[in-house]
Amino acid sequence: MSSMKSHPIFYLLILGSLISTPIHATTFTVKNNCQQTVWGAAIPGGGNAMSPGATWTLDVPSNTNAARIWGRTGCTSNGPNGLTCTTGDCGGVLNCVNSGATPTTLAEYTLTGSNNMDTFDISLVDGFNLPMSFKPASGCSNGPSCAANINDSCLSDLKVNQGCLSACEKFNTDEYCCRNQFVENCPPSTYSMFFKNQCPDAYSYAKDDATSTFTCPPGTNYVITFCP
Ligand SMILES: *[C@@H]1O[C@H](CO)[C@@H](O)[C@H](O)[C@H]1NC(C)=O
Repeated sequence: MSSMKSHPIFYLLILGSLISTPIHATTFTVKNNCQQTVWGAAIPGGGNAMSPGATWTLDVPSNTNAARIWGRTGCTSNGPNGLTCTTGDCGGVLNCVNSGATPTTLAEYTLTGSNNMDTFDISLVDGFNLPMSFKPASGCSNGPSCAANINDSCLSDLKVNQGCLSACEKFNTDEYCCRNQFVENCPPSTYSMFFKNQCPDAYSYAKDDATSTFTCPPGTNYVITFCP
């Protein structure tokens, strides 16, 4: 009887198991450090009701592109996947597949992207609803934090019941949104500078890359905290 190892099927089985090995996962630990319940939202990832102190663990493929995580406040559930929120509502469902209603503080990331690095940021380009930090869990050291409650200091022009709008959302001009003749050269405005003063490491408007983009090597895990 010939040994199993000499049989071609053996090698096919090994090859098959190599090919079907899942892509390595990156873990995001989302923490609610706020006094209020926050309904976490993630694309990819869905949603999760988080009481004060709660943690939500998300595993995503290590090549995930253009992902976002945010918090929703003032939510009321209706039915198994129905959820209507005062801020960050994603079309009335608990498990988000579409972006949330603005204004929302956003954590954004792409894993194993340009230069083979993870890139991540906190963005106030869609306005502000909750303070947030976005830190590597270990290894890589730097990540942004926007701990100020911009609700309280929001310029009266930008204030809405749901938080603090960005100038692009509020006025929708090419200049504030960095469109058309402002694509290449889009200077900060007094509105974007207001956000930048509150949260220097977050995106205050679309072309704020230089001081707002963070990178870590692939394989890094991350911690996102609401109300750090
Ligand atoms: C900011 O304002 C919104 C809308 O009133 C509210 O739902 C949210 O909880 C506020 N955020 C904080 C940190 O108080």
